[in-house]
Amino acid sequence: MLRPRSPGTKPGTLATPPLLTTSTPTGTSTSAKKKVAMPDSPLVDIAAVTAFHRQLPQYAATPLHNLPTLAADLGLGQVLLKDESDRFGLPSFKILGASWAVYKALARAVGLPLKDANGQALSLEKLAATVRAYNEHHTREGGLRPLGIISTTEGNWGRALARMARYTGGVSCRLHVPAFMPQATQDLLAREGADVRVVPGGNYDDCVAVVRAEAERDSSLLLLLDVGFEGYEDVPQWVIEGYSTLLVEADEQVREATGGRAATHVVVPVGAGSIAQAVTAHYKSPRGHGGAVGAGQSMTEGMEGEEMAEGDFGKNTGVDGVSTVTSQTTTVLAVEADTAACLRASLAVGRRVTVATADTIMCGLNCGTLSETAWPILHAGVDYSVAVSDRQAHVAVQQLWNADGRDIVEDGDEPMTGMGNHNNGYHHKKRVSEAAGASGVAAGPCGAATLAGLRKICSEARDIVKLNGDSVVVLFCTEGAREYAVPFV
Ligand SMILES: Cc1ncc(COP(=O)(O)O)c(C=O)c1O
Repeated sequence: MLRPRSPGTKPGTLATPPLLTTSTPTGTSTSAKKKVAMPDSPLVDIAAVTAFHRQLPQYAATPLHNLPTLAADLGLGQVLLKDESDRFGLPSFKILGASWAVYKALARAVGLPLKDANGQALSLEKLAATVRAYNEHHTREGGLRPLGIISTTEGNWGRALARMARYTGGVSCRLHVPAFMPQATQDLLAREGADVRVVPGGNYDDCVAVVRAEAERDSSLLLLLDVGFEGYEDVPQWVIEGYSTLLVEADEQVREATGGRAATHVVVPVGAGSIAQAVTAHYKSPRGHGGAVGAGQSMTEGMEGEEMAEGDFGKNTGVDGVSTVTSQTTTVLAVEADTAACLRASLAVGRRVTVATADTIMCGLNCGTLSETAWPILHAGVDYSVAVSDRQAHVAVQQLWNADGRDIVEDGDEPMTGMGNHNNGYHHKKRVSEAAGASGVAAGPCGAATLAGLRKICSEARDIVKLNGDSVVVLFCTEGAREYAVPFV
């Protein structure tokens, strides 16, 4: 049974339009549209980020699975799935962004440069020792508070932060969490060492407000959020930078799987929008690193206030409904939970809006407001977005588990050699899914949501986004299997 729904619409928020959950479009807009240029993103020092991640305990590139049966079923060339079910021993990708952000935030707080005069990167070990000494000194000098981390989470982000707090000198990690967070998730956070505090009656947005206020009151608390807002852009940008490791791995693995081709389409889940921002910037921005020829093309903007036809929700169509997607770009497809489809609602009106949220098994996607820093990138670069129901996500979990998947490189094979870059030495874990002889992927609902979204797009917008037998589609499967309340059939 589904858990009870969280509180409904708050004053000043948009209710999610019911048509967002429908699966069949009824038309396209013929209204005039104006173009939105893809904003440039800050240059990411990818070598520094990947070198940092390699120092963390249990670093390994996550596997890319080839899913030929699903590809045939959907009439696509290849469906490849980047499996983030085990990232540094945690069941989601979030620690990639959390680790880099915590590293940079703590280094800044204790006054350590990220590189010394010889260009040598600050090691995790040195950072941890300095932070420990700094906090001991502050504790001894009565009246001064030691540094700590404060944040909010739907689960995975907080687990990653708490883990990093341990790795960086044992700083405290306080997490204010939504009232509807399952006790099991709270326990997981506490087990990582977090101080978990439930915000009575609060949803994710309410928790963001609480931790912002707390951090403002106490300057020893470092605010570590993966959502941006005015005056708070550094940390979310560091989070995005941290996700580049995943994208660099994926690009190389995709080329390996396809004999040198890049992804033609990528499918990414959207909560507050940070992972989608990283993916979109990577494939679409002028400084992005991924994708095929022609990245950085401008997309289109719906005019604020214009009437949108049902089929236009979430679709970045060109003038008179003609798609601006070309075969030269990697097409970015976004998937949200239909209980928290703030990207679709924002794309529909051409500005960032808040939607009322309700409980969902896709916990990590349960955000009513996009990160302010993510919105301009998503607005310009996402080619099509859909919202999926709990039921559709659940079906996709089962389909992935039963999928006939093949790893690109199995355990014991030669490590994949880099395509002329620094990636030599990657080892790929073989999928462990022995139960019942299944060879599939053990995904959680947020991760499987991308398959549910792809199915929906294949049925409602196949031609618009140019999905066909030549397509190389990458699903970003952001979390591993976990318990959830199975939705009603
Ligand atoms: C497993 C999982 N997938 C996807 C997301 C969405 O990420 P973002 O908030 O960056 O959009 C989250 C967020 O917590 C998550 O935990």
